[in-house]
Amino acid sequence: MSGPAPIEWNDSIATGVTEIDEQHRILVNTLNDANARMADDIGLEFVEQITQDLLSYALYHFETEEELMQKYGYGDASGADAEQHLQQHRSFSGKVVAVRDNLRAGIPIKRADLIGFLNGWLINHILNTDMKLAAFIKAKRGGG
Ligand SMILES: [Fe+2]
Repeated sequence: MSGPAPIEWNDSIATGVTEIDEQHRILVNTLNDANARMADDIGLEFVEQITQDLLSYALYHFETEEELMQKYGYGDASGADAEQHLQQHRSFSGKVVAVRDNLRAGIPIKRADLIGFLNGWLINHILNTDMKLAAFIKAKRGGG
């Protein structure tokens, strides 16, 4: 059964900040695993499980990034970028919760739409938003 392609980890999505990349790899694996298993089972119980797993790890990951922002003074140096970054984290969490609540209320989501959103969000966020933060952190560490 074909479906959305898995995310392939490669250097173009590596930020170069070790702890961020390690967590991104886990997020990518979580999404790919959900994508692979979803071909056979897209029941409510399954979606509850993946939204739970994904959300708890994503929240932990967002916390790690937000602690790094604090530690290196990202908000002071680059307020608009920091604000936009935090907003994207909140909106991702909100969307995952909304999908789960919709499913609970009997409003289904297609597998391609769910995986498309999740994969698309992660790649976009990494390439556009985390890369900016990573460049800032690396400059701070390099110059430290
Ligand atoms: Fe982020």
